[in-house]
Amino acid sequence: MKLSDTHESKGSSGGVAADTIRYQSGFGNDFASEALPGALPVGRNSPQRVPYGLYAELLSGTAFTAPRATNRRTWVYRMRPSAKHKPHTRLENGLLRTGPIEEVPPPDQLRWSPMPVPSVSTDFVEGLATLAVNGDPGMQAGMAAHLYLANRSMSKRYFVNFDGEMLIVPQQGRLRLVTELGVLEVDPREIAVVPRGMRFRVDLPDGPSRGYICENYGAFLRLPELGPIGSNGLANARDFLAPVAAYEDIEGKCELVTKFAGNLWASELDRSPLDVVAWHGNLVPYKYDTRRFMAIGTVSFDHPDPSIYTVLTAPSDSPGIANVDFVIFPPRWLVAEDTFRPPWYHRNVMSEFMGLVTGQYDAKPEGFVPGGASLHNSMVPHGPDADAFERASAAELKPVKLDDTLAFMFETRYFLRPTRFAMEAPELQRDYHQCWQGLKIHFDGKRK
Ligand SMILES: [Fe+2]
Repeated sequence: MKLSDTHESKGSSGGVAADTIRYQSGFGNDFASEALPGALPVGRNSPQRVPYGLYAELLSGTAFTAPRATNRRTWVYRMRPSAKHKPHTRLENGLLRTGPIEEVPPPDQLRWSPMPVPSVSTDFVEGLATLAVNGDPGMQAGMAAHLYLANRSMSKRYFVNFDGEMLIVPQQGRLRLVTELGVLEVDPREIAVVPRGMRFRVDLPDGPSRGYICENYGAFLRLPELGPIGSNGLANARDFLAPVAAYEDIEGKCELVTKFAGNLWASELDRSPLDVVAWHGNLVPYKYDTRRFMAIGTVSFDHPDPSIYTVLTAPSDSPGIANVDFVIFPPRWLVAEDTFRPPWYHRNVMSEFMGLVTGQYDAKPEGFVPGGASLHNSMVPHGPDADAFERASAAELKPVKLDDTLAFMFETRYFLRPTRFAMEAPELQRDYHQCWQGLKIHFDGKRK
């Protein structure tokens, strides 16, 4: 598909109507796609002359020598190589921050009310605001939790992130991700991942838009092992969708914004960089609809560990200890007998950044609202607020459907440093600790 011959991507245009966007399904597949018949070389990656006079270019997401099962790379066939660009100049980083930072994390529970989408014209890149970071992209370890708060489609502007892949969780408004490999449209309750080094732009068909981003500096996100669960369940591979080839053939000055080593840089191009006519490989942007997550829970007793809700995991070098896990709390039935059903009180060596896309979270019916966020850092004690404890302790334990809700967690092995912006924001709930102050002593020395 050839996308529209205009840089002005207003409303729901983005070069293609929503109902004509096509996808390929599967996770980690060797996909192949061509926007023009015969554009994809057959039987070799780099023929002497590529069909249609295209250039062959390899995008390597892992080391050439990574084991086959974890090797990710894609061949793109494009109008001109990515190497053709002018020298970069520095841009202001705005509210975007990258690990490591110096800010001192307090050993307290932290929570933020939703931050408003600005009233001034702001695109996706301008609207990035970092709440917390750890690690260092130079060491390929750690992550950042950002918000995006934007109201304007990117126009004559493209973005590429060398520091990490970006897991995007829309909370308000759809996103149209126009990437080198094609178009993904993502609505709230869906998520998308754009690989490190892939150029894209973001259109906002619904105008004012807000969401969360996990920028993963580490090994790429993948499906978790299922162990005794078996060969099906949780997020199933077939429900992940990659784009089909679509290209822009657009002359005219435009800007490529690159995030590298924590800074934003701009380079002028004289053509759209989304000029890939055909591609094949397994390094792809993809999306996933959380409504397709097959949630597993107890059918006897006890609240299971939240790891049963892992959608994607980015491992570290220590087996079983993630650089970052992406975990969702989707609509589900609660049926446990003789059980305190909300999450238990706990202290966790892993750090937990949470957001709420819609509805209520059962441990925090008040104060944690859609578009807001919380951070329970490594070993910081947390759990249900006083009201939730009293209610759940007295509730009749009939089957209950938690409906119309979607919370999520970026859970990481390294403690997160909240940014100065996050700690000074008026949305920081400075009275968050109060939700536990009403917890009563029920102990009186008598067995009940
Ligand atoms: Fe927790």
